[in-house]
Order: sequence, then C-alpha cells, then structure tokens
Amino acid sequence: MSELTPEVLISEEQIQSRVLALAEDISADYADGGELVMIGVLKGSFIFLADLSRRLSIPRTIEFIAVSSYGNGSVSSGAVRLVMDVRGNIEGKHVLIVEDIVDTGHTLKYLIGMLKSHRPASVRTAALVRKAESAEVDVTIDYLGFDIGDEWVVGYGLDFAEQNRTLPYIGVIKPTDG
Ligand code: PRP
Repeated sequence: MSELTPEVLISEEQIQSRVLALAEDISADYADGGELVMIGVLKGSFIFLADLSRRLSIPRTIEFIAVSSYGNGSVSSGAVRLVMDVRGNIEGKHVLIVEDIVDTGHTLKYLIGMLKSHRPASVRTAALVRKAESAEVDVTIDYLGFDIGDEWVVGYGLDFAEQNRTLPYIGVIKPTDG
C-alpha cells in the first residue's frame, strides 16, 4: 500500500470545465490578430498546456522553457535559473506563459522579465492553480484556474517526487502516519 494517498481537491470535471472557460477567454482576447505563442514551463505545465491549447479557437504555436528553482528540496530558494530557453524566435509575437502552479511567484516573475528581453509584442500569464497565501512577490496571472490553500498538491502535471503527475484530477498529499 502506498504511504501517500492523494485526496481529490479539484475534480477532473471541475478542471475540464475551467480549462474550457479559460480557453474561451483567451480565444476572445487574442482574436484581433497577431501571432500567439504559448510557452509551457517544464515539466509541470505539460498537461494543462496540452488541454488548454487544444481548446483554443485561434491559431497558436507551442514552445517550452525549463527553469530550476527548488534544487532537491521542496521549499523555494527564490533563485531561479534558466535550464532551457525557447527554441523559436518570439520577437514581435504575443507570448502566453503557461504554468501549472504559482507558489511564491519567483519563477513567473523571473520568466516574465526574461521573456520580455526577447522583445515580444506582449507577455501574459496563465496558471492552473495559485497558492495565494504563499506569494512572496507580486505577479499578475491573467488567466487563473483556481486558488488553493498552502497544501502539497499533485496530479494534472503536478508531482510529489516525480510521482502522480498523470492523475486526471488535482489531489492533496496527506501522510498516512501523520
Ligand atoms: C513548480 C511550478 C513552477 C514553480 C512555481 O515547478 O511548475 O514552475 O514550481 O513555484 P514558485 O512560484 O515558488 O516559483 P517545479 O520546480 O516543482 O518543477 P516541475 O514543474 O518540473 O515539477
């Protein structure tokens, strides 16, 4: 028996309905033209990016970026390091950064600044969940799925020690032996 049992916090149905609503908002906001490039932040965003991008009704391209901030621990150091940059040229394009979770906000703040240096037409942000109580820096999330408390969540891209990323729902890890 597994030591760690995720309990459902946000169901698959709730996620899918919210992702569709966000996709409709994004499609409307970018309908007037310009090139939209969605940039997924590895690894956690891969499922949210896949679902969100497939529900858009406007043209878009996909890029990925990778950063490192936590090292081997679970507490953010606040220091963000670029591990893999985008491959394509984003100059003059509308950039939408896609994150699974915003915790302290350091990662997203760093990415906004770094990507702006590539001279895109605009930079906006989407995140499936935000831990509002954990914010250490002020960062705008233009398209937010859900606010959650200060709990360790897994599923829909989110992991605990690389486990549980492919759960269709978001669950909370509760140690069984306290
Ligand atoms: C998570 C998440 C964000 C970052 C947010 O990534 O995907 O990139 O942490 O934290 P912050 O707001 O405190 O900066 P993680 O380091 O867990 O890597 P992963 O996506 O590969 O699991």
